[in-house]
Amino acid sequence: MTTTYVFDNHSVHATEQHRCLSEAYDPITLARLAETGVGPGWRCLEVGAGGSSVAHWLAAHAGSVVATDIKPEHITAAHGLTVLRHDVVHDPLPDNEFDLIHARLVLQHIPEREAVLRKLVRALKPGGWLQIDEFDISYGPVLLAPDERAAELYESFLAVKERMFRAAGGDGTWGRRAATSMVLRGSSMWTRCPRCSRGARDRRVCGCWCITHITCGTS
Ligand SMILES: C[S@@+](CC[C@H](N)C(=O)[O-])C[C@H]1O[C@@H](n2cnc3c(N)ncnc32)[C@H](O)[C@@H]1O
Repeated sequence: MTTTYVFDNHSVHATEQHRCLSEAYDPITLARLAETGVGPGWRCLEVGAGGSSVAHWLAAHAGSVVATDIKPEHITAAHGLTVLRHDVVHDPLPDNEFDLIHARLVLQHIPEREAVLRKLVRALKPGGWLQIDEFDISYGPVLLAPDERAAELYESFLAVKERMFRAAGGDGTWGRRAATSMVLRGSSMWTRCPRCSRGARDRRVCGCWCITHITCGTS
């Protein structure tokens, strides 16, 4: 049994989608990953690797990365990188295996996201890091448009996108609850708005560090 994913990696648009994600979010993702101290000897897991830009960065820094995806065809080869066709919902993960696990914009698509979160925490070695990068797709007001009609069109697009997410079992608003979910999973937490650094929390509970990226809407 495989999970439904609203954007299909076999779609003709997938390469461009992955390129846009990488260009828009890698600067934030990679800066925060670097803050974990990831380096030679670390064993890393990149879940839902998509176009694999983050997996490649991890391979260059850590040397040992497993990159998974339900449709891994866009993950390109690199030294130290193992590619796995793997459904994070239904396929097993070893316990106490990884020093660092990262997933960006994956859990919002997965109805079983809370169970997956527990599974990812279990897969960490004591003292390992879990970085979950998510955002909330429901907040995207039109700031500037050529005219009113264009603004209405964009708002309609956003509404349809959110409906499609939900129809496929996703929750495009989970980003705003990701930090709470991670705390509820009993993990330590470090959460910070990448733009303004507000909301920093730093707690160590069970020996795992968890990071979420959230945007708080202030600038
Ligand atoms: C929005 S893309 C994000 C890709 C990449 N993480 C990034 O941020 O550039 C979501 C990715 O998660 C993968 N995915 C969706 N459901 C999954 C599952 N159950 N297990 C593993 N990967 C999954 C998709 O195939 C897709 O590559």
